[in-house]
Amino acid sequence: MQLARRIRQIPPSATLALNAKANALKAQGVDVVNFGVGEPDFDTPDHIKQAAVAALESGFTRYTPVGGIPELKEAIIQRFEEDLGLSYRPAEIMVSCGGKHALYNLFQVLFDPGDEVVVPAPYWVSYPPMLMLAEAVPVIIPTREENGFKLTPEELRERLTPRTKGLILNSPSNPTGMVYSRPELEALAEVVLAHDLVVISDDIYNRIIFDGLEFVNLAMLAPELKARTFVLNGVSKTYAMTGWRIGYAAGPEAAIAAAVNLQSQSTSNPTSIAQKASVAALRGPQDFVARMVGEFAWRRDDIYQRLLAIPGVTTPKPEGAFYIFPNFSAYYDRLKPAPGQSRSQALAEYLLEEARVAAVPGAEFGEDACIRLSYATSRERIATGLARIREALEKLGK
Ligand SMILES: Cc1ncc(COP(=O)(O)O)c(C=O)c1O
Repeated sequence: MQLARRIRQIPPSATLALNAKANALKAQGVDVVNFGVGEPDFDTPDHIKQAAVAALESGFTRYTPVGGIPELKEAIIQRFEEDLGLSYRPAEIMVSCGGKHALYNLFQVLFDPGDEVVVPAPYWVSYPPMLMLAEAVPVIIPTREENGFKLTPEELRERLTPRTKGLILNSPSNPTGMVYSRPELEALAEVVLAHDLVVISDDIYNRIIFDGLEFVNLAMLAPELKARTFVLNGVSKTYAMTGWRIGYAAGPEAAIAAAVNLQSQSTSNPTSIAQKASVAALRGPQDFVARMVGEFAWRRDDIYQRLLAIPGVTTPKPEGAFYIFPNFSAYYDRLKPAPGQSRSQALAEYLLEEARVAAVPGAEFGEDACIRLSYATSRERIATGLARIREALEKLGK
């Protein structure tokens, strides 16, 4: 059977093979340190779970409004107002089955076949395939490590064409952990306005930010920017709720209505009881978030120091999220990638075999010089894993 063209054009993830290998090793009883995970290693707080139980017991188990229950939309609006000073009306909010789903819906309603959408690299793995599913053209712009892997206005301007319609920004970034400052965004805003671009601001990690740094997105800078920006967020990362599948988008009403319409013909509403749990997450005590972020900040300092102590390794210091994206290219000359394999894949495979450490090759994020390490794992595992990486690299050097 011939599958549809739209799915045939999406390449399978190269990490799948690596994951399978890591799982096979684990199944054989090998102790693998896993730096590959993309979710907090914390449990969902109790009061949030209890809200879901209460919803279940009260029979809140039927279809809800497609774009989210009014109570959840109000809780989202309140957080936008309190956290970011952004005002939205309920018609400007869509709740979806995870942030990923909200993004998918938005791409489908915003972009026509052939529309170019700028994706600064390193990027979150799902942006290019999701854009391709909308038949849009991802225009990958490489950024530079010395600029903290952040897009500059010059780099953006150079790649604009009459077909450029959108720009995706993700801060704090997955995979680099870098955060755009207000002046950096103001500089990009000039280009966005001059070229009439639609912006998708993926803020999914905006509450996981370190050193008291200010979080800013483009919508916060000026009303004319808010009018062209879609802000994406969700409860997955902030409240350790990845499995609950609740994400949301805020933006201009007509596009949000279209995205809800699309959702009405695909998934319908996100799970009823997960919506109730999300109300408790957004409205309830926020001390869990501070504790989790404090722990991530400690680990960030620790893993950063350990990486810098390895000869030849460089990395900007992450300012948020729970990833670090070190450059290991100093060791690449000593590797022999298999045919079709990128050098970061070859290194990730070597680290798995030699160091029993699982990590994601930078090629997956559009930057082959690096490897992504997630520090959503215990302090003790970080120490063990980094000692193993160091030893394996020393061996490679001999
Ligand atoms: C940058 C980024 N955006 C969006 C998401 C989507 O998260 P979810 O669908 O769990 O809300 C993720 C999850 O890994 C992410 O890393």
